[in-house]
Amino acid sequence: MARKVQFVETVLRDANQSLIATRLPFEKFEPMLSTIDKAGYYAAECWGGATFDVCLRYLNEDPWERLRKIRAAMPNTKLQMLLRGQNVLGYSHYPDDFVKLFVKKAVENGMDVIRIFDALNDVKNMKVAMEATVNAGAIASGTISYTTSPVHTHAKYVEMVKELKEMGASTICIKDMAGIMGPQEAYDMVSAIKDAVDMPIDLHTHSTTGLAFMTYLKAVEAGVDIIDTAISPFSGGTSQPATETMAYALRQLGYEVDLDDKITRQMSDYFKGVRDEFIADGTLIPKALATDTQCLTYQIPGGMLSNLMSQLKQMNALDRLEEVMLETPKVRADMGYPPLVTPTSQMVGVQAVTNVLVGERYKKVSKEITAYCRGEYGTTPAPINEEIKAKILGDEKEIEGRYADTLAPIVEPTRQKLAGIAKSDEDVLSYIAFPNLAEKFFEERKAKEENEVTYSIVEA
Ligand code: CO
Repeated sequence: MARKVQFVETVLRDANQSLIATRLPFEKFEPMLSTIDKAGYYAAECWGGATFDVCLRYLNEDPWERLRKIRAAMPNTKLQMLLRGQNVLGYSHYPDDFVKLFVKKAVENGMDVIRIFDALNDVKNMKVAMEATVNAGAIASGTISYTTSPVHTHAKYVEMVKELKEMGASTICIKDMAGIMGPQEAYDMVSAIKDAVDMPIDLHTHSTTGLAFMTYLKAVEAGVDIIDTAISPFSGGTSQPATETMAYALRQLGYEVDLDDKITRQMSDYFKGVRDEFIADGTLIPKALATDTQCLTYQIPGGMLSNLMSQLKQMNALDRLEEVMLETPKVRADMGYPPLVTPTSQMVGVQAVTNVLVGERYKKVSKEITAYCRGEYGTTPAPINEEIKAKILGDEKEIEGRYADTLAPIVEPTRQKLAGIAKSDEDVLSYIAFPNLAEKFFEERKAKEENEVTYSIVEA
């Protein structure tokens, strides 16, 4: 019998985030939810990452309400979210009580699969979220932030997979956020993991460098079970490869694919219109859809490269770009080869720019890099360069163990602080994650409700 390959649709989250900075409001995709539900996906990725932040910051939407509405419209498909381990949806570590309640409420509001990663691949930063997911009855997908370096061997990745399994992961995701994984590497890495554990493996990549279709094919050959794709109008470039194209190629190669082509065609017709609106208003720029091989040469993720360029431009120092590109991998090596993903990509990039412009390496460092050297972000893949660490820390002490253990509980004090303002624990969680945004959202919601009350009195 033909082996089955399953699909995760990313149009509601990663494609939306990668191409149009997560600006898709609920009303724009609402008409398609019941259609997506019928297509035959393993899961629909629809929450987490930047969705929560952008709902509150730009779309004036309650992210929890969005999740509940998606759940109601899609009773047959698993809903999936991306969670940054102990960082949850933010950029720094939170106390355990917040992580636990957040995961519990995400599952209560409809989440089925929680994909949990850590920027340093430090599993002790993933443990609390993994256990909370399992306790809430959802699927914990233990995730590897994929990167290449002298210390990132297949043996190390396999060791990590075994630890994640121990923590309750029922699937493994290899997350190639920069789209730098090539087909042979995919084949070798998936084979190594499949040899070591009997667990479903999902591969997540981006089309940025143009490798993704080939990478998925070789990964499938090596036994990958699930791939992440985006419906064609929201595919390509910094997004994922197209769903329909992968389904077509895999069927031709003799694999079984559950997707209903009639349904994916309806989705494609609909989302073409949505995409064209975002092109017309300038949100979707042509560059985001193009292939960019620069990061294969420099080993710097595409998003990070454009950040470096805009930083230098602001400082009127764009002519130093070549030096910064040479300095970036050196800083990364000094820092123990962190994968370049939020927030480490920003930290390493800013430090490389500073080193070049100041003219002396590590004479000036950000407070984030200092915290990183203290151990607040977790254990680095390789040790940090001792000499540089001593220069940065001076007399400051390194922390031992897990940074979150030093943080006081935050949920109960916040509940008390928000008495009369927060209507639910979900509100409390939104506030802890993004205090200013949530406060603004609560005020606007109140004003809107008062308006509605007045209106209904007049109507009566
Ligand atoms: Co991604």
